[in-house]
Amino acid sequence: MAFHGYDKNFNINDKVAIVTGGASGIGRAISELYSEKGAKVAIFDLKDNVIDAAKEIHAENTMGIQCDVTNNENMDKAIQEVRNRFGQIDILINCAGIALLDDAENISDNYWQKTIDLNLTGSFKMCQKVGKIMIEQGTGGKIINMASQAAIIALDNHVAYAASKAGILGMTKALAYEWAQFDIKVNAISPTVILTELGQKAWSGKKGEKAKQEIPLGRFGYPEEVAAVALFLASDATNLMTGENIVLDGGNTIK
Ligand SMILES: NC(=O)c1ccc[n+]([C@@H]2O[C@H](COP(=O)([O-])OP(=O)(O)OC[C@H]3O[C@@H](n4cnc5c(N)ncnc54)[C@H](O)[C@@H]3O)[C@@H](O)[C@H]2O)c1
Repeated sequence: MAFHGYDKNFNINDKVAIVTGGASGIGRAISELYSEKGAKVAIFDLKDNVIDAAKEIHAENTMGIQCDVTNNENMDKAIQEVRNRFGQIDILINCAGIALLDDAENISDNYWQKTIDLNLTGSFKMCQKVGKIMIEQGTGGKIINMASQAAIIALDNHVAYAASKAGILGMTKALAYEWAQFDIKVNAISPTVILTELGQKAWSGKKGEKAKQEIPLGRFGYPEEVAAVALFLASDATNLMTGENIVLDGGNTIK
C-alpha cells in the first residue's frame, strides 16, 4: 500500500467502527470521540442501557447493541446487524473487560476463568470474526485491543488480569504479522489507572494515593486521554504502525 497522506484534523469520516464495552468508561469516551470525528459507531455491550447510550452520543450515526462478547451467537448476530445497517466494518476496538482481583494463592477458578474468557478470549473472538470480514472486504482495517500497564509490570492481586492482558499483547503481535498482507493494522493501548468505574473500584482509597505517588507524572488518566490515542490509531496517520503497544501511563513503567 502506498502512502496517501492523512487528515490533519484526524477525521475518520464514514469509517464504520465497532466498540465493545462502549456503554461506559473508556469505550464510551472512544465512541463519543469517533462519532464526533465522523465515524459510524456500533457499541456492543452487556449493559441494557447500551441502546440509550448510543442515542445519547448520536442518534443517527451511532447504534447500540446488547451483546455478550463471551457468547459466539451474540457476537455473530450483533456483527450482522452492523453490516445490515452500515454495510461494512473498518475499525474494531476491544474495550470490554473486567478486573477481578485477589491474591495469587487464593484466586478462585471462577475469577480466573471469567477474566480470561472476557479479556482475552472475548477479544480474540471479536478479532477473528471481524478480521475475517475485513479480509473479505479487501480494504484493510484497524483493530485496537485494550491491554494495560498490568501486561508489563507486576501489580499486587492482578495475576489473572495480568495474564489476560499479557495475552492481549502476544495476540496483537501475532495478528498484526498474519494480517499485514491484508493491510489490517492491529495495535494495543496499555493505560495506567484510568478514572472510570472499573479504575475507581480497583484503585480507591490509600492504595490509589500510593499508586499515584509512584507515577512520575503524579496522576491517573482520564477516559478522554485514552480515546485520543484510539483516534490516532484509527486514523490514516498510523497506517505504517502495526503490532505496536502504546503505553499511556504517566511514565509508570519506565522506572
Ligand atoms: N480503568 C482502568 O484503570 C483501566 C486501565 C487499563 C486498562 N483498562 C482496560 O480498558 C478496558 C475498559 O475499561 P473501563 O475502565 O472503561 O471499564 P468499565 O467497567 O467502565 O467498562 C467496561 C464495559 O465493558 C462491558 N462489559 C463487561 N462484560 C462484557 C461482556 N461480556 N460483553 C460485552 N460487554 C461487556 C461493561 O458493561 C462496561 O460497559 C478494559 O479492557 C480494561 O481492562 C482499564
